[in-house]
Amino acid sequence: MPFDFDAPVERRGTWSLRWDRYPGDVIALWVADTDFRAPPAVRAALAARLEHGVFGYTVAPAELREAICERMLRLYRWRIEPDWLVFLPGVVPGLHLAARHLLGAGEHALLPVPLYHHFRRALERAPRPFTEVPLVLSGGRWVFDEVRLAAARRRETRLLFLCNPQNPGGTIFTRAELERLAEFALAHDLVICSDEIHCELLLDPKPHVPIASLAPEVSRRTVTLASPNKAFNIAGVGCAWAVIEDERLRRAFRADEHATVHDPSLFGYAAALAALREGDDWLAAQLDYLRANRDLVEREIATMPGLSMAHVEATFLAWIDCSGLGAADPHAHFLARGVALSPGAQFGAPQFVRLNFGTQRARLAQALSRMRG
Ligand SMILES: Cc1ncc(COP(=O)(O)O)c(C=O)c1O
Repeated sequence: MPFDFDAPVERRGTWSLRWDRYPGDVIALWVADTDFRAPPAVRAALAARLEHGVFGYTVAPAELREAICERMLRLYRWRIEPDWLVFLPGVVPGLHLAARHLLGAGEHALLPVPLYHHFRRALERAPRPFTEVPLVLSGGRWVFDEVRLAAARRRETRLLFLCNPQNPGGTIFTRAELERLAEFALAHDLVICSDEIHCELLLDPKPHVPIASLAPEVSRRTVTLASPNKAFNIAGVGCAWAVIEDERLRRAFRADEHATVHDPSLFGYAAALAALREGDDWLAAQLDYLRANRDLVEREIATMPGLSMAHVEATFLAWIDCSGLGAADPHAHFLARGVALSPGAQFGAPQFVRLNFGTQRARLAQALSRMRG
């Protein structure tokens, strides 16, 4: 079935966080949702629930648990059990639960940077002490500096945060890289909290490896956070889950369930189930479209003076180094030209901006032309 990702969709005036923040003619390429309509199967499932008309309290559907287990096995040869799943309205609450409940007061976490800002915020608000470990650009990829990682560990370190694929760097960590991280965690008795929300947005022909799938002893110390929110563009509906094999970890993580953290909505469950069961063709077509957008961004940025970026292996986000631009505030620089990007400072690197290329190609080309000036 053909899907038209070029079709313009007006999002201004729809309560869009991304489009309704900046007035007028600004092209909004910041917050990480896409401008594509969700898969037809998702829209049909939501319409059916809407038509039913009763929106009462809801339980997590057993079919969704089964669909997730089946997908993990099919995509990653990762065998998980339905009762390892803890449903959440989004991955962000999962990051906060991890910071609050997987670490005792005074216990310390390791945080790779640059990184999606909610990881840091979760630790600050918990509050729990943490050390930032800078990722390094090696062979054109943002990867862990294992020497610095080891040096950052303290006696009271108990948690390693991981974001794979990486936001904002776009890295798909290799099996070998993940094995070394897992060995590190095993050697020092660390829990791993791995945010894998971008795992179905692979642009390069490289496999995603859930770190918990490496070995049973890794699975027993890992909380994996995942969601169809990004890949199927349903963040405003919202459904996510944690995969936690170890019962003790699961119990700790669930402390706020049905309290400060609410279940996903009926619509979140319905959209997630339809996406997993019937969204694969749409997702494959979207990935082709995003690859061509990525290539356009990389070609254009390579010829813009003062800008550079690493190749984006996954996600729809380009992490652009503006150090050569001579602008004190690169975000303000591009906003003045009519393009709203995410300020790098949000991820811990003020000389960078993050560009969301999950949009119609004509609009992307226009934004890139504005950036060139
Ligand atoms: C790495 C990462 N985790 C979590 C989120 C947000 O997830 P959710 O909308 O499910 O809370 C994002 C959104 O940009 C993200 O990039």
